[in-house]
Amino acid sequence: MGRASPGAGSLWRVIESFGLERVYLRRPADAGPTASAGEPRGPGPGPGESVEMLLAALRERVGDCKSCGLSESRTRIVMGEGNPDAGIMLVGEGPGRTEDETGRPFVGKAGQLLDRILASIELDRDKVFITNVVKCRPTGNRTPSDSEIAACFWILEEQISAMRPGLICALGAPAARTLTGLRRGIGQMRGEIQRFGRIPVVVTYHPAALLRSPALKRPVWEDMKRMRDLLVELGLPRC
Ligand code: URA
Repeated sequence: MGRASPGAGSLWRVIESFGLERVYLRRPADAGPTASAGEPRGPGPGPGESVEMLLAALRERVGDCKSCGLSESRTRIVMGEGNPDAGIMLVGEGPGRTEDETGRPFVGKAGQLLDRILASIELDRDKVFITNVVKCRPTGNRTPSDSEIAACFWILEEQISAMRPGLICALGAPAARTLTGLRRGIGQMRGEIQRFGRIPVVVTYHPAALLRSPALKRPVWEDMKRMRDLLVELGLPRC
């Protein structure tokens, strides 16, 4: 399948032409160890390989992962789904009960809201790739701990390296902190484009937070408009 995202060189030309490099190159002083400091866009598929092949190989290596305590209570490892060639990746927190049962990300109530949020900017969940910072359900839907996130981080890194997305959307604080390395609240991270290496990261509230606090609807809509504009600037197709 052809790659929809531009190559690293052309992505840079687009970023520079919009004067965005100052934003993407800025590495904040409180960036932590998970934020990628090096070349962010991995090698991607080699000759004769596809992103799907790389992801299938990654799934095999993950196997019956026992790297952290979440493995003891999980039903399924939820790797993620969608179109790995789309150039757009959404990263949430971790599977909930429905996700743990089905093996699919964002299919419960928060997932249904996410579908509607995506539709508001003419994005379809089948057209993006959706995953989480941890691939196993934290019991009681608690926030995954730093050590659980650290144990799982290599999988997200390899997914990004294989897919080389042109844009990542971080849904909620654990995803935003993991990708940017910043130890800040969503309110301080959203509103400007963050980055994972050189990949632009749009930070917004988690759909589950929106279900609890409808007042977050407005900032999420602003973030989605920012993401839609960036997708256009970067030449990433939405359909
Ligand atoms: N919340 C998440 O963060 N991820 C899911 O997959 C489902 C709910």
